[in-house]
Amino acid sequence: MTLNESIAVAVLGAGDMGGTVIGHLKECKQVGRIVAYDVDAKRLDEVRQSERVDAAADLGAVLSDRSIPLVFVTASNPAHKDLTMKSLAAGKAVMCEKPMAATLADAIAMVEAAETLRWR
Ligand SMILES: NC(=O)c1ccc[n+]([C@@H]2O[C@H](COP(=O)([O-])OP(=O)(O)OC[C@H]3O[C@@H](n4cnc5c(N)ncnc54)[C@H](O)[C@@H]3O)[C@@H](O)[C@H]2O)c1
Repeated sequence: MTLNESIAVAVLGAGDMGGTVIGHLKECKQVGRIVAYDVDAKRLDEVRQSERVDAAADLGAVLSDRSIPLVFVTASNPAHKDLTMKSLAAGKAVMCEKPMAATLADAIAMVEAAETLRWR
């Protein structure tokens, strides 16, 4: 990738923080397409309309999309570990909202997964 190229980014969790992250991503000239994903179809549709971003109701489709190298995990806290692990397994770079995990053991597992899955 060169400095003039743009990337696609997925935002997993389209609540308040998801909307904030989308707002920041839209200001970033290196970001081309933004794809929002949420388990709440109503919320997803609201974000699609208000932010004018792509919306995906199928996590598998987002994670198998090879044009998306980076995901932001902005879903509710209990979903952080699962979304992060699945994203890393799909080869994505992950930015996860705080708190990243509910327990230290989960946080360590997420970091170890990032080190072994993402960068292999
Ligand atoms: N809002 C803030 O100012 C703020 C500040 C700092 C950190 N955060 C962090 O951001 C995260 C989200 O907070 P919020 O305020 O946006 O909450 P929110 O309740 O507004 O939004 C959470 C969204 O996650 C979705 N969601 C839940 N489970 C999901 C799953 N498995 N897959 C996809 N989407 C799922 C929900 O449907 C909802 O739309 C939290 O971890 C929070 O700690 C928020």
